[in-house]
Amino acid sequence: MQKIIIPRFSKVFKPKTLIVFAFILNYSCVSGQLGQNNSGEYKNGAVVSAHPEATAVGVEILKKGGNAVDAAVAVQFALAVVYPNAGNIGGGGFLVYRSAKGEINSLDFREKGPGLATKDMFLDEQGNAITNKSLYGHLASGVPGSVSGMVEAHKKYGKLKWADLVEPAYKLAANGFKITAKQAGELNRMKSKFQQFNPLGTALIKDRGDWATGDLLIQKELANTLKLIKEKGNAGFYEGAVADSIVAEMKRGGGIISKADLKNYKAVWRTPIVGNYRGYKVITMPPTSSGGIALLQLLQAVEPYPLSRWGLNADSTIQLMVEAERRVYADRAKHLGDPDFWAVPQKQLLENSYNKNRMSNFTWDKATPSSAIAAGNVGAKESEQTTHFSIVDREGNAVSLTTTINAAYGSLVVVKGAGFLLNNEMDDFSVKPGTPNLFGLVGGEANAVAPNKRMLSSMTPTILEKDGQLFMVVGTPGGSTIITSVFQTILNVIDFGKSMQAAVDAKKFHHQWLPDRVDVEEGALDSATQQKLEAKGYTIFKRGSIGRVDAILRTKWGSYQTGADPRGDDAAGGW
Ligand code: GLY
Repeated sequence: MQKIIIPRFSKVFKPKTLIVFAFILNYSCVSGQLGQNNSGEYKNGAVVSAHPEATAVGVEILKKGGNAVDAAVAVQFALAVVYPNAGNIGGGGFLVYRSAKGEINSLDFREKGPGLATKDMFLDEQGNAITNKSLYGHLASGVPGSVSGMVEAHKKYGKLKWADLVEPAYKLAANGFKITAKQAGELNRMKSKFQQFNPLGTALIKDRGDWATGDLLIQKELANTLKLIKEKGNAGFYEGAVADSIVAEMKRGGGIISKADLKNYKAVWRTPIVGNYRGYKVITMPPTSSGGIALLQLLQAVEPYPLSRWGLNADSTIQLMVEAERRVYADRAKHLGDPDFWAVPQKQLLENSYNKNRMSNFTWDKATPSSAIAAGNVGAKESEQTTHFSIVDREGNAVSLTTTINAAYGSLVVVKGAGFLLNNEMDDFSVKPGTPNLFGLVGGEANAVAPNKRMLSSMTPTILEKDGQLFMVVGTPGGSTIITSVFQTILNVIDFGKSMQAAVDAKKFHHQWLPDRVDVEEGALDSATQQKLEAKGYTIFKRGSIGRVDAILRTKWGSYQTGADPRGDDAAGGW
């Protein structure tokens, strides 16, 4: 994490002191000092992303007069270079937008099943799921949506020239950037996998020896691809030399993405989902992501309860949130899929009475077993690698964008000649509806594989407003934990009064109906809380970090307080 933590000022200072402080802040920003001392609070705009280089690119675009969408486009391309783990041009994602005047929109640039995809393409002759086939190699990839998404976003809202937004990423790829310690370790651990899936070589494998912190990663083929995108937009990726390279790569590895699939891909503007929580307006992503619906269901389920009195990660708080999560994830599994292919009962799922009613069979005495919540096996397996960034510009326009190639380094296939990793998003489909996959999770008919269908996602880019003003921009990677991480971060600020950074730092827990257990980060529960929950029948499962939330909070005095997740190399910046 690249910044200093500051407390929520309204909790620390009296109103009069705040007015004086706000004046000083304002003065400092005009003189440019806030951005320079990296205090984590900025007057004129802020960017929080998974990598310091990408954040720096976004801040530069804002300083040049670009708006939040311009900065988002530049950050998306920069992440494709400096954060190959999840940043991408070979994947997809979702963008939620709110203009300073309150106009809202959302963009779905999720990958699609190729035209030759079939419902049974990941089953063996006995009809059993062959999980690795949807996870690694050429068949695992959906048709990438990120470039189309960025072109669409720029066409509708962009202010600066397209080429100027792709240029920083091009330079980072052509000239190289210094990798972090975490990246060096990861690339070294992935070496044999990269060799296995890329016999013709890739820039991600060091010529000699192991990667070390500060080594320069130069990606010449990726730079050429970015140059074509810079010059030709969509046609630079979905047609011509890059499309030829993708199709040649497919041929080499037995994949099925065709030239027609690439040419026909189009990102789609969708009406965002809007709900309310304790007087805050919540603007979030509709299907093809499950994230927005599930987030609003969770907020509705807990709203009647006095969470702030109970406290952060207290046993009652955890019990209530876990029981809500159990019910919401059961709904997600059964009812959610690509709305172009499946009738999603969005209106019913978002009715307050429905969600209150779902909680009526919850009892404080003991855990509700997941088997009692919904008949049938439904759900979807998701990897935990993805990335999120939040941006606010000088006018107050905001972008919340989550993007992914699914697992870390996606399908592990780098397109020869074009230098970018392809996603393994086909695994986000239910490869065999109704049957548990390799990881013990199960999937429903709503999310079965089909040609030209978008696979269900959990990505939850979200923007909150209060009294007609921007309040928060939030999102995270984390597969199925995305929804619960965004949920907890919102509660950490609204119910528990945390600053943006403290809300991001707070230890998390997660329940997803199946498996029937509460995943907890080390340190999330004290031993007394754990014992109380276990006595009621909750299975506590200690695991590594949950989520990597990158978020921005607008303070009462109008500046932007950032939260960059310390679980990764995430960085906040602004001016
Ligand atoms: N691949 C993770 C998600 O879309 O939710």
